[in-house]
Amino acid sequence: MTLIAPSILSADFANLERDIRLIAASGADLVHVDVMDGLFVPNITIGIPVVRALKKVSPLPLDVHLMIDRPLRYVDAFCQAGADYLTLHVEADEPENTLTALRRIRELGKKSGLSLKPGTPAEAVRPFLPESDLVLVMTVEPGFGGQAFMAGQMEKLRTLRAWRDLECPKCLLEVDGGVDLVTGPLCRENGAQVLVTGSAYFRAEDKNVFVKQLRQ
Ligand code: DX5
Ligand code: ZN
Repeated sequence: MTLIAPSILSADFANLERDIRLIAASGADLVHVDVMDGLFVPNITIGIPVVRALKKVSPLPLDVHLMIDRPLRYVDAFCQAGADYLTLHVEADEPENTLTALRRIRELGKKSGLSLKPGTPAEAVRPFLPESDLVLVMTVEPGFGGQAFMAGQMEKLRTLRAWRDLECPKCLLEVDGGVDLVTGPLCRENGAQVLVTGSAYFRAEDKNVFVKQLRQ
C-alpha cells in the first residue's frame, strides 16, 4: 500500500497544530517536515525547536527531510527532538560523513533516509542502500513548494526500485515534489511507496478523498 506524507511546508505556519491534526484526520500516514538552512537550498524554514513542538501534538510519525549542509552535525538533535524518519541529502557532505550519519540515526532507534536531487544520478545513493530505511527521490529542485513535477525522474525511480527490491527490500522508496492526482499515479507505477504532497494536498477541498485517491 502506498503511504501518503503531506508536507507542512504548504500548511499555515501560524496554525501548525491545527494543520497537523487535519493531516492525521484525513487518513494520511506521515507528516513530512521540510528543514532548510539557506545554504544547501536558498530557502530557510524551521529547525529543531519546531520539530520538538510538532512531535508533542502529532498523532502521526514525523518524516523529517533535512535540506541542510553537513547534516551529521544535527543528527542527534533532530532525532532527540522527535524525528521518526530522518532523511539527509547525499550531496550535502562527504561519503564517510553520510555513512556515519545514516548509522547514527539507526543507532538512535530512528529510520534513516537518504535523498537525491534531480541532477544526481541513482548511482550516488547505491553504496548507502544497506544503511538506508528510506530513499527519497526529488522530483523538483529542493527549496520550495508548488513547483512543477519533473517526469524525467521516473527512470531514476525505476532503477532505484529495482536495486531496492534486490539489495534492501525493507527500504521504502519515497517521491517528493509536484505530486498530485495526475503525477502521483505515475510515481506509483514507477515504484514509489511513499508520496509526499504539499501544495496539492492543502489545495484539495476534501482531504480525505484526496488521500484516498492518491493512495489508489
Ligand atoms: C521541496 C520540499 C517538498 C515540498 C513539496 O523542497 O522538499 O517537501 O513541500 O511541495 P509540493 O508538493 O508543493 O511540490
Ligand atoms: Zn520534502
